[in-house]
Amino acid sequence: MASTALICDTEPWKDLKEHINVIEKTHLRDLMNDVDRCQSMMVEFDGIILDYSRQRARLDTTEKLFKLAEAADLRKKIDSMYNGEHINSTENRSVLHIALRAPRDKVICSDGKNVVPDVWDVLDKIKDFSDRVRSGSWVGATGKALKDVVAIGIGGSFLGPLFVHTALQTDPESADCAKGRQLRFLANVDPVDVARNLKGLNPETTLVVVVSKTFTTAETMLNARTMREWISSALGAQAVAKHMVAVSTNLTLVEKFGIDPANAFAFWDWVGGRYSVCSAVGVLPLSLQYGFPIVEKFLKGASNIDNHFYSTSFERNLPVLLGLLSVWNVTFLGYPARAILPYAQALEKFAPHIQQVSMESNGKGVSIDGVPLPFEAGEIDFGEPGTNGQHSFYQLIHQGRVIPCDFIGSIKSQQPIYLKGEVVSNHDELMSNFFAQPDALAYGKNPEQLLHENVPDHLIPHKTFSGNRPSLSLLLPSFDAYNIGQLLAIYEHRIAVEGFIWGINSFDQWGVELGKVLATQVRKQLHLSRTEGGPVQGFNFSTTTLLTKYLEVEPGNPSDSNELPRL
Ligand code: F6P
Repeated sequence: MASTALICDTEPWKDLKEHINVIEKTHLRDLMNDVDRCQSMMVEFDGIILDYSRQRARLDTTEKLFKLAEAADLRKKIDSMYNGEHINSTENRSVLHIALRAPRDKVICSDGKNVVPDVWDVLDKIKDFSDRVRSGSWVGATGKALKDVVAIGIGGSFLGPLFVHTALQTDPESADCAKGRQLRFLANVDPVDVARNLKGLNPETTLVVVVSKTFTTAETMLNARTMREWISSALGAQAVAKHMVAVSTNLTLVEKFGIDPANAFAFWDWVGGRYSVCSAVGVLPLSLQYGFPIVEKFLKGASNIDNHFYSTSFERNLPVLLGLLSVWNVTFLGYPARAILPYAQALEKFAPHIQQVSMESNGKGVSIDGVPLPFEAGEIDFGEPGTNGQHSFYQLIHQGRVIPCDFIGSIKSQQPIYLKGEVVSNHDELMSNFFAQPDALAYGKNPEQLLHENVPDHLIPHKTFSGNRPSLSLLLPSFDAYNIGQLLAIYEHRIAVEGFIWGINSFDQWGVELGKVLATQVRKQLHLSRTEGGPVQGFNFSTTTLLTKYLEVEPGNPSDSNELPRL
């Protein structure tokens, strides 16, 4: 029987609701003058500095948020996650991505079994396999070393590994280990993605890694069959054994597909797709590209945050603070979006990854017990690296809608440049923007200041900045493999904290199912029309018309022979 208890019925929630009136009378311009407040809103852990003084919050706001955390049983929920309880109740699973980066001697149990030895069995297997591929002792069907890897996968089987790969590409230590190698990602079922990925690749030197938790995802399986055809048409069907490996929880389907189970890398039901980058999903392709020791550093960074999240008091706990502030912004202040703004080109794919982690986790309309939520949960995440974003959507952020921003920067650049005679180094130039933008948002510029600058009257409304726009800053020592692991885990846990407070299940994703079912119906229709010329039937007027137009131009299938990209 579903419980109807909702967090919005608790006293701390009601208290925060009333507190909004108090905050609405404040301006960040004034809040920033209170040095004690600002000092209390700076937290440092392992060289990572979180400054949340530019949130629309006073010290009593954070006190009230901690009371809300208590009312939501946050401590108990975190413990339940770490204890392997089935907190993903609609799928009856535990949620243990923390076990993926735990040290060998740690004990983390799911259904009474310590899962850490299984994790390390797979990690050891990846280390061994990637060492053999990288050293050239594992060769392709024609005896050539496999220097290029195409990882096929979508959603959680793609975005996390892509983020980490993009981040490590320019890290000097990682780049050094990746010399002469390429890692590409094939995600979209659009044949153009196949064409782009295959461009310049030689099947003789290519290893394909099929990554799919279920091994049933339509896009991934069609792309896998396409790549299998690409390999076997060039090298013969027997070459598949040497050129294709898999990562999945469904080893039966892997074998059925034709991949040797010895070349399959397992993970488990207790790893959610979007939380799987630290499993073989990310570790295998990244180890092939960078070598296992680099990936181990990344795992250690994530594990370091797992310990911090578990053991640090909420007042100094980065994911807890970040999660509570997001709840405050979304649900109480009514800001539906969050901009993720890394001042780091290396983090180019961070926002797309967090989009999935956050929006697939917390984009829910009912409580964990199935009760419709009478408040807004989840947020719209988007972002671009600074300074590119400044020349794109910052206009809206400064003078249009209020979007709480996460500014993320690093003290050291991965690739420092300093030109003699320039005022500052290139990294300092970048970071000048990182430090300036939050103040521009917080303080704004008022008409009096503009008058003082002799701005003509008719331009004053256009040049006025209301300010009072919240942001927070995260400053990391650098973006090496360890720090990237830390950043990933901070956001994973932050998103879990938000879900724990809202009282939703952040670990299922039923919302992606309906579209898949309807696509099956369309697929059947396209097959029927193209092979038998059958009319479009069983759809509404709009879809029938569009499908008919789509089929009109080339009614049949192109030819009976396999067609592969021509680029
Ligand atoms: O988009 C839905 C989803 O199920 C994601 O949660 C998952 O990451 C993705 O599809 C890919 O699934 P799989 O790894 O099973 O191919």
